[in-house]
Amino acid sequence: MAASSAVEPTSFDPSKAYKEWEVNGKYFGDGREVALLDYIYNHPDIEQLRGNPEKILRAIDAFAQSVTGLINIGENKGVIVSDVIAQHKPEVVLELGGYIGFSAIMFGSAMKRAGGKQYYSVEKSPLFAAVATSLIDLAGLRDTVRVVVGTGAEGIQRLYDNGLLRSQIGMAFFDHHKPSYTADLKLCERLGLIGKGTVLVADNMILPGNPPYVEWVRASVEDKRAMDKAAQEKGNPNLQYNSRFVKSFEPSGMEDALEITECLGIEGA
Ligand SMILES: C[S@@+](CC[C@H](N)C(=O)[O-])C[C@H]1O[C@@H](n2cnc3c(N)ncnc32)[C@H](O)[C@@H]1O
Repeated sequence: MAASSAVEPTSFDPSKAYKEWEVNGKYFGDGREVALLDYIYNHPDIEQLRGNPEKILRAIDAFAQSVTGLINIGENKGVIVSDVIAQHKPEVVLELGGYIGFSAIMFGSAMKRAGGKQYYSVEKSPLFAAVATSLIDLAGLRDTVRVVVGTGAEGIQRLYDNGLLRSQIGMAFFDHHKPSYTADLKLCERLGLIGKGTVLVADNMILPGNPPYVEWVRASVEDKRAMDKAAQEKGNPNLQYNSRFVKSFEPSGMEDALEITECLGIEGA
């Protein structure tokens, strides 16, 4: 049975707004990520940043507020996801779309505080993955957060083939290529990574939105069985989900939302 509810956003503090993402037609990958690394390592408080995830997150925010915008999840949506982690206490988290490591640092440290063991962050760009690895190391999270270079599908399959992800995970966070959310969730389902208690968090449900993903996580088992028969990529339609839409803000101040989905179990199991 799937249910959904909208939650009104709390207010956005404009003094914390990131600068415009768009610079000369580019939204990322124009050198700003390496400039961020220089900014952090030349920070006057670098010694206080070492081993302090919270201070590193605020320094990343300061760069994005004063130099150039970054496509991080940001503080507003990030706090909602951190609360989900504190509540569900996942032992293992899989993130798809790591960028420069903001969410991996924020959620990896939340997972560690909640007693979790391992956070895998899959990132397609080797350059962004290198920036993230360096910042994760600076945050003192090297043993908890592991960056995997590849597309979501490549990363999931490699982690499975290497034996690192072979059983049910506690949480998956989707923040990568929007059309790949559904296919990559279905891959996780086929590999047995989703089960009772797994929580799925998907970003950018308004900006730009993701109707096929929302349709899949909100459909009944019966409807998913019919959808799966006709689909090229098969999932596990027997997984029962309970899903809700949670409104919040992008770090720029624009309204956005997360889809937060809990797996209630497997029908017939
Ligand atoms: C919105 S950013 C992720 C932001 C990050 N989660 C955060 O909040 O700090 C999206 C990232 O997904 C990566 N990406 C794009 N397509 C991908 C794919 N198919 N698989 C994995 N990563 C992908 C991009 O390179 C980019 O770094």
